Amino acid sequence: MSGLFITMEGTDGAGKSTQLKLLNEYLKNKGFDVVFVREPGGTNISEKIRDIILDIENKEMHYMTEALLYASSRAQLVNEVINPKLKKGAIVICDRFVDSSIVYQGIARNLGVDVIKKINNIATGGLIPDITFFLDLSPKDAIKRKKEQKQLDRLESEKSHFYQKVYDGYKMLIKQNSERIKVIDANKSIEEMHKEIIKNLEKLFV
Ligand code: TYD
Repeated sequence: MSGLFITMEGTDGAGKSTQLKLLNEYLKNKGFDVVFVREPGGTNISEKIRDIILDIENKEMHYMTEALLYASSRAQLVNEVINPKLKKGAIVICDRFVDSSIVYQGIARNLGVDVIKKINNIATGGLIPDITFFLDLSPKDAIKRKKEQKQLDRLESEKSHFYQKVYDGYKMLIKQNSERIKVIDANKSIEEMHKEIIKNLEKLFV
C-alpha cells in the first residue's frame, strides 16, 4: 500500500504554518499515520543545510549554490523520510517542495525552470506530490503581514519585486498543474481555508 503525499506552498506570510498545523491535527484525529516535515529541513542533515541557506550572514551565496543546497536538503528528506513513510502507507505532509524551488530559484532568481526541474528530478527520483495546496495571497498583502513580524530572514528581506516574481511564478505553475495544485484564497478566515483544504482532500479518499 502506498500512502499520500501532500505539499503546501505559498508566498511568505500567507498563513501556511497555521494551515499545516490544522491539517496535521485533523488527519491525526482521524486516525491516520501522519508525518509532518518542512522544507528546507526535516532531517538532521537537511536542517543543517537549512541553517546555511537561511543564514543572514551568507550574503555572497551564489544562486546556483542555493538551488543545489535546496536540492541536497530535499534528496536527504525524500530518501530518509518521505519515501520510506509513503511505502508504509503513511500520509506525508510537507511544508514546501519542488514547486518552491521552481518558483524561487527557477523563476524569481532566473536560473531557469528546466535547470531546476533537472536538478530536482535527480534529487527526488522524480517524486511528485499527490496533491498540493497553494495559499493565495497577493504580494502587497504578504509584505504587510511580514512587516508585523519581528525578524525577516535573508530571503524574506528581499524587495517587493522579488515577491511579485514569486507570485507570478506560482500562477504560471498552477496553470500548468491545475489538476494537482489547489488554490486556497488566503484572504479567507483560518477556519474557511481549513475547510476548503479538507474538502479537497476528502475527494481523494472516495
Ligand atoms: P521559511 O522560514 O520556512 O519560510 P516559510 O514559512 O515562508 O516557508 O523559509 C523558507 C524560505 O525558503 C522561503 O522564503 C522560501 C524559500 N525556499 C526557496 O527559495 N526554495 C525552496 O526550494 C524552498 C523549499 C524554500
